[in-house]
Amino acid sequence: MKRLGNDECWCGSHQKYKKCHQKFDERLRYLKRQGYVIPQHKMIKNEKQIEGIKQAAVINSGLLDYIESHIGAGMTTQEIDDMTVEYLKAHDASSADLHYEGYPKSICTSINDVVCHGIPDAQVVLKEGDIINVDATSCYKGYYADASRMFMIGDVSEEARQLVEVTRECLYKGIESIRPFKSTISDIGRAIETHAHQHGYSVVREFCGHGVGLSMHEDPYVLHFDPHYPTTLLVPGMVITIEPMINAGKRYIHIGPNGWSAYTDDGSLSAQWEHTILITETGVEILSM
Ligand code: MF3
Ligand code: CO
Ligand code: CO
Repeated sequence: MKRLGNDECWCGSHQKYKKCHQKFDERLRYLKRQGYVIPQHKMIKNEKQIEGIKQAAVINSGLLDYIESHIGAGMTTQEIDDMTVEYLKAHDASSADLHYEGYPKSICTSINDVVCHGIPDAQVVLKEGDIINVDATSCYKGYYADASRMFMIGDVSEEARQLVEVTRECLYKGIESIRPFKSTISDIGRAIETHAHQHGYSVVREFCGHGVGLSMHEDPYVLHFDPHYPTTLLVPGMVITIEPMINAGKRYIHIGPNGWSAYTDDGSLSAQWEHTILITETGVEILSM
């Protein structure tokens, strides 16, 4: 049924359509005729939702700061989980990871050749030279934010440091590729892939970024490579993660015995950085700074 100007907007703002997303929809219809894959309405957040996601992101970043200031050699990954539970409780928030599809802990801790979804464990002790990704997804008042960082434990090898740095650059190349109403998910992927390949690294394909905000994982998928088929156009109001997993060796991975943790097949180091990003009228806002 056609929406009329005086009807309520579909975005949940309680504003009149003509004062809210009518022009936006017209612009998307035009772009669709030009051949773009345009996002579905459910991928577009309203002001109130964006405000909620921002608050969740502040807590999530505070958690990663807290972990960053305590992490070091001799600590177990279970202690990182303990810090997570404590911090989120103190901030009236909860972990979106805990019990997600049966996931047993509140955060992911992925060391060296673990690509992602490393499970905190009281038997796993961080040692000098390790590189670790800590990936947190927090829920606050029903809104979600998702981010991860790499930490280098003590002195790490030059190869490890390079991988960590270049992977961070890959994330930022992906973010910087975004042009509202102009660029697509493929452009993010191509920017990441190009930079990784320039350094002789490979990009993991089995896991990708995603829409986020009203739940942990929403449409669209955000690929970290160019699939060479048409992908969704990026427009204001979308909130997505970009979270490239970059391997020092080949891109191939397998899931380990716990059914969750992914490892590089060749045993090479893997790194990952993740941000939650809002697409605005003029560019992007990194919510998980
Ligand atoms: N934080 C992850 C992501 O970036 C998802 C966590 S998986 C879970 O999408 F099993 F730990 F919940
Ligand atoms: Co994450
Ligand atoms: Co994510």
